[in-house]
Amino acid sequence: MLKQILGRWNPGWKQARWKATLIAMPIICLCVPLLFLALPYLEILNDMAVQPKGKAQGHYGWFSDQIIPVERAAVAGTVPMGVDPPYALEYVVTEKDEEKAAVYAGKTLVNPIAKPTRADMRRGAEIFGRICWTCHGKQADGDGPIVGPDWFPAPPSLHTPQANGYPDGRIWHVMTRGQNKMPSYADTLTPLERWQVVHFVRALQLAKKKAN
Ligand code: HEC
Repeated sequence: MLKQILGRWNPGWKQARWKATLIAMPIICLCVPLLFLALPYLEILNDMAVQPKGKAQGHYGWFSDQIIPVERAAVAGTVPMGVDPPYALEYVVTEKDEEKAAVYAGKTLVNPIAKPTRADMRRGAEIFGRICWTCHGKQADGDGPIVGPDWFPAPPSLHTPQANGYPDGRIWHVMTRGQNKMPSYADTLTPLERWQVVHFVRALQLAKKKAN
């Protein structure tokens, strides 16, 4: 019935369908890839692209003061890129040679804490007991729990005449830049904290000298 009606209305409908298909196929073949080109972010599983995320300069309710994370003040106990102003030092040691750089640092850097307070010593001891002792040992004898023949290479004792003779600036420099296998702690400890640790190392050295 339908065919009869259609046939009467358009007798050549079958041929027309073929012609339409022949014209439509190349158009579809061209348009589908173009559609994907026009929508480069079209993903079938788009969990990564579509996600809640904050944009710089945006205001979100994550923090009570509505300030976005990148503009927030440093969290206590972390070190922002840069230096803390009262102890800012022109620490520009461009010397590549490790020994020369350390000698230079020892000659030029002056410990800003001339007389350590009790709080300075306590902070230095706390940091040494948290970070340095893992390799250097509690008394800085180079026998920390992670060193051994199968694991981390043992550092030298900090009670050698050589280490005793290092200027404060050189010890600070070793913590800042690292030395051979010892990593840098510049991003873990503020410049001031590193000076506090220097004082604690000095105290350890003095205690050992007195004991011997
Ligand atoms: C991951 C292990 C490790 C940690 C943690 C570590 N050190 Fe070291 N340290 C070493 C090694 C290894 C050396 C020897 C580097 C070398 O071969 O020159 C060294 C060398 C040193 C030296 C130079 C000694 C010398 O005679 O030349 C000083 C000073 C020093 N460390 C201080 C510190 C202080 C202070 C800390 C804590 C902030 C610390 N280290 C944390 C592994 C460590």
